[in-house]
Amino acid sequence: MNIGFIGAGHMGSAMIEGLLKAKIVAPENLFVKGGSSGTAEALQEKLGFQLINDYEPLKKCQVIFIATGAKIVLDILKQAAPSMEKDTILISVATGHTVKEAQTVLGDEIHVVHAIPNTPVSVNAGMIGAAFASDMPKETKNEAMRVLESLGKVEEVNENLLGTFGTVAGCSPAFVDIFMEALADGAVSEGLPRTLSYEIIAQMMLGSAQLALETKKHPGELKDGVTSPGGSTIKGVTALEKNGFRYAVIDAVKQANS
Ligand SMILES: NC(=O)c1ccc[n+]([C@@H]2O[C@H](COP(=O)([O-])OP(=O)(O)OC[C@H]3O[C@@H](n4cnc5c(N)ncnc54)[C@H](OP(=O)(O)O)[C@@H]3O)[C@@H](O)[C@H]2O)c1
Repeated sequence: MNIGFIGAGHMGSAMIEGLLKAKIVAPENLFVKGGSSGTAEALQEKLGFQLINDYEPLKKCQVIFIATGAKIVLDILKQAAPSMEKDTILISVATGHTVKEAQTVLGDEIHVVHAIPNTPVSVNAGMIGAAFASDMPKETKNEAMRVLESLGKVEEVNENLLGTFGTVAGCSPAFVDIFMEALADGAVSEGLPRTLSYEIIAQMMLGSAQLALETKKHPGELKDGVTSPGGSTIKGVTALEKNGFRYAVIDAVKQANS
């Protein structure tokens, strides 16, 4: 299979890395068109895919991703449309447009998927929300799912939920990164080395997430299991509540989604 990419910025490069790691496409079958800043060229030197300068080579691709800024995505699709063969799957990860708008630009012969991924796709541990054109044939949808699932877990959602899905799955890695950094600051101030602190914290978060996914227990129940009466954990939990931790998190989601 040949895969095409328009845009290799933060999200584009994370997906390109994930697709190559998953070996769903070989570097010689991956055609990437970047913008003008040289980001795609630098990535090409590292990953060895086919760098393209115009949309023409996309004719060879059965699946094309677009990962450009939201404001320009429909204009770029208009320019790229003549280079898309019938039955191409177009996966847009750009925000700010609908499946219908992309479909209007591309015509009925192209199958449009609107997906919102997050940066862990680069290590094939992404959380991706996907909305499909309503008339997409089953085999085409399965093929799009196969490609997306190589990057992580995929949930099909109604397109009007993609925005909030993107906030929770796409913005939260930054919230979690700040939480990890703050935990490490606390650990370092109590005497643990910095590098060791980051390693402990990342593994702890991975384990906590795995426990939640595998047991399907309510987060409150998992928390109760760690807090023994009069123990140190409940003292920490009390400090978090006193400092408005829950409200800070809820407000972060609300602000990011506004
Ligand atoms: N970052 C995330 O976590 C995330 C999550 C979900 C969805 N998204 C969505 O994904 C899209 C991209 O986000 P991003 O964070 O990756 O932004 P970004 O880092 O700014 O990347 C956008 C890329 O598009 C390239 N570009 C512009 N015009 C182009 C053209 N004509 N042909 C090919 N490439 C072109 C730019 O290249 P040059 O800079 O070289 O000009 C840039 O590298 C956005 O719509 C965003 O909302 C992002």
